[in-house]
Amino acid sequence: MQSLMQLLQKCVEESFEKCGYDKKYGKVIISNRPDLCEFQCDGALAAAKKYHKVPFIIADEVVANLKETKEFEKIEVIKPGFININVSKKTLSDYVNKMVKETKFGIKIDPNKTVIIDYGGPNVAKPLHVGHLRPAIIGESVKRIHNYFENRTIGDIHLGDWGLQMGLVIEEMKYRNPEWVYFNENYKGEYPEKAPFTVSDLEEIYPCASAKTKYDENAAEKEIEKANAFKEAARRNTAFLQEERKGYYDLWKKIVEISVEDLKQNYKKLDVDFDLWLGESDSQKYVKTMIDKMKKLGIIYESNGAMVVDVSEKTDKTEINPCMVLKSGGVSCYQTTDLATIMQRQLDYNPDSIIYVVDKRQELHFLQVFRCSKKAQIIDQDVDLVFLGFGTMNGKDGKPFKTRNGGVMRLENLINEINSKVYEKMNNTKKLSEEEKQKISKIVGLAALKYADLSNQISKDYIFDVDKFTAFEGKTGPYILYTLVRIKAVLNKYYENDNKIKDNIILEPVEDIEKELLLRISKYKEALEESYIENAPSKICTYLYELANTFNSYYQKVKILQGDKDRLDSNISLLSLMKRIFESGIYLLGFQAPEKM
Ligand code: ARG
Repeated sequence: MQSLMQLLQKCVEESFEKCGYDKKYGKVIISNRPDLCEFQCDGALAAAKKYHKVPFIIADEVVANLKETKEFEKIEVIKPGFININVSKKTLSDYVNKMVKETKFGIKIDPNKTVIIDYGGPNVAKPLHVGHLRPAIIGESVKRIHNYFENRTIGDIHLGDWGLQMGLVIEEMKYRNPEWVYFNENYKGEYPEKAPFTVSDLEEIYPCASAKTKYDENAAEKEIEKANAFKEAARRNTAFLQEERKGYYDLWKKIVEISVEDLKQNYKKLDVDFDLWLGESDSQKYVKTMIDKMKKLGIIYESNGAMVVDVSEKTDKTEINPCMVLKSGGVSCYQTTDLATIMQRQLDYNPDSIIYVVDKRQELHFLQVFRCSKKAQIIDQDVDLVFLGFGTMNGKDGKPFKTRNGGVMRLENLINEINSKVYEKMNNTKKLSEEEKQKISKIVGLAALKYADLSNQISKDYIFDVDKFTAFEGKTGPYILYTLVRIKAVLNKYYENDNKIKDNIILEPVEDIEKELLLRISKYKEALEESYIENAPSKICTYLYELANTFNSYYQKVKILQGDKDRLDSNISLLSLMKRIFESGIYLLGFQAPEKM
């Protein structure tokens, strides 16, 4: 289905052609002066240069053909040669009625594409903190959007389970519990079914281990030595792990198991759902084949003990260092696991594209990895490797968000903070049962958080501001939900009395505000398509906000449940469509609406 703008454009293009000009000058855009008109065409200005004519003469000729055309309510020339356009009421309502019949508002679906979305990326054995919020929220939305366009989508959490942090945790466990069978080389029996530690233990162990590797500037030599020795031991453990050494590997498996159980619950609370729970470790089995392949191609060489591949290109403006494929001693590093994972994904899923939702500070890492993977031919050359780098969520001081006493903010606490803020607000306003209030504040709180995150451009940093995010007015999740709840309330009121509508037809608008609302609605298809093509959920956020604004003015001005039967049916059809739009939109952003609020 073509968009309303394309439909108008077709008429204008034909007229340009009829007057002897190239039809490419007939491009129609949204008006940048909504006070004057709804759409505009600036083509006569460009055409004037090409055909050596005065712009408004060209525009006059083009418009003369269109004066009587049924698609336009108004089409006129404004000097020096702009064409201002208003769509006719009939064309507009016809368009919206067509949209109603489409299952997905007339979007151009894009099936037969396999897209892997790599998002979440938590590290095993470390608690989830605010830094994990953005990849989860953005990735989930991007995945839902791709899925909506009927791509075959595969969301992979890509656990950080193979790095030094694992070696550190193991070292600390060994220090505390040297008697554990995992550390006894001569142990021959089975390892215990039940882990000898809990999630809370893990949460405490990692920071403790990590602190042991650090020392400050004026530390005594002894202290430095101690820190380095601890780190060295952790490195050794990591290498043992990667060799799958008995005991170490078994303990590691338990750590992953306990961590993953906990992670699953946390992501569930965020309404974030992965298709694959693979991790860095799952790519280890591809490392050898990958290195062999690189050797065969003659692209890998030794440098300071490590194995590297050159990835610089002539057109680079800054120097791009070689990609380290293995650390000295053949130990896998972050690049190794990402490269081997690409190979694994190629073999298992033959994707058309892989989208990485990762902190933008990792851009260089991914540039190196992407180039290296193509050079090593471990992925097809035409696979689109997309780096979707996100900015940081900062506190009001402009620095990465922290707790009040300066510690890393745990995700759970952040969510609780938002939920209680919403709860507080509901407490003041509505007569709801305690249970309802609890339930609703969770739904609305999550919406507040997700909407606030997604309404920013992904790569931008933004400031965490509970009061702003949870406001019931303005560009916020609660405002969107509030509007949807209002729509549902009107619909319920109508259907409550056993009313039925005859036809699901939206009549031509009478009031200006009705026309404005239909125009807004007609643009949903474009908003969805842009969000898909640009991986930009923010387009949906902005659209829903504008729609909510227009709807709320409509709600003030129009008596929705009054009028003759046809008008009433039309109003109800319009509201049902609005409900569908809002529900699909918030689904794509990753949240839900309560029944009341
Ligand atoms: N675990 C990583 C981190 O905490 C993020 C993983 C992102 N995905 C990837 N394929 N590297 O930085």
